[in-house]
Amino acid sequence: MNLFKDRQSLKAWMSACRNRGERVGFIPTMGALHAGHLSLVEAAKKQCSRTLVSIFVNPTQFGPGEDFAQYPRTFAADQTLLEEIGCDGVFLPEVATIYPPGGQTSVSVEPLGSQLCGAARPGHFQGVATVVAILFNLVRPHAAYFGLKDYQQFTLIRQMVDDLCMPLEVVGVPTVREADGLALSSRNRYLTDEERARAPALFRALTHAQELYRGGERDPLRLEEEARRLLLASGIENIDYVEVRHGATLIREREISTDPVMLIAVRVGKARLIDNRLL
Ligand code: PAJ
Repeated sequence: MNLFKDRQSLKAWMSACRNRGERVGFIPTMGALHAGHLSLVEAAKKQCSRTLVSIFVNPTQFGPGEDFAQYPRTFAADQTLLEEIGCDGVFLPEVATIYPPGGQTSVSVEPLGSQLCGAARPGHFQGVATVVAILFNLVRPHAAYFGLKDYQQFTLIRQMVDDLCMPLEVVGVPTVREADGLALSSRNRYLTDEERARAPALFRALTHAQELYRGGERDPLRLEEEARRLLLASGIENIDYVEVRHGATLIREREISTDPVMLIAVRVGKARLIDNRLL
């Protein structure tokens, strides 16, 4: 597996791939890799002849008081996992490689970037969109793979790629879960045993809403109320939002038209947990 730390070596490898007519699939990550990340690499391997993962804990998407300093950095273990599944390259830049001094440009996707998780985390999605745009321009992949676990992030990146005519395909990959339904996340390690036992309530609330929707319930407020009730009954009291939105655009509808998604964000101890499900 090739390891690139600077722009030049990455560019040379990518040019060689392109010249050989390879299709390159790109998976941006912040490291602390788990089976969710690896499923993105597997998806890329099915559709592309070369796969490249970036590992970069992006400072601009963390707000003041968020966990930038504590975010797990486990590069040695990450490298082993990527080698084992046959990833072709890892891009591991320093902050100054992504953001050289003097930069002035950022990407904002509005209003979506200020809604849902963006309301609780001002500036977060501007940081995400900006770093992903920079990575796309450095790598110039044919396709990029994102987890549907971060549904708002996936929708926002697709919107950015559309709006700015970026020449690549954006692929969404289903959420990988623990046996009890908890979505895998690098932040699950912040949970105590007692909090971990409560966390699967998110998936149960989503499943309950899905059953009601499939049973004919079309009032988003009713679905949200039911999911909220289940969360509270499971000891999850710090609820940021429970919302039903249009699955493709994330627009809020008074009456559900087609393919809705329910999105949930809660706080359990030190961890902010998010999950979603297409109903
Ligand atoms: P990170 O949280 O490391 O996630 C990297 C990718 O893995 C994202 O596309 C995320 O949706 C996906 N992922 C995480 N958990 C998953 C799971 N349980 N199942 C499937 N996919 C999962 O998201 C980021 O990093 C950053 O915001 C980034 C896009 C890299 C920009 O800095």
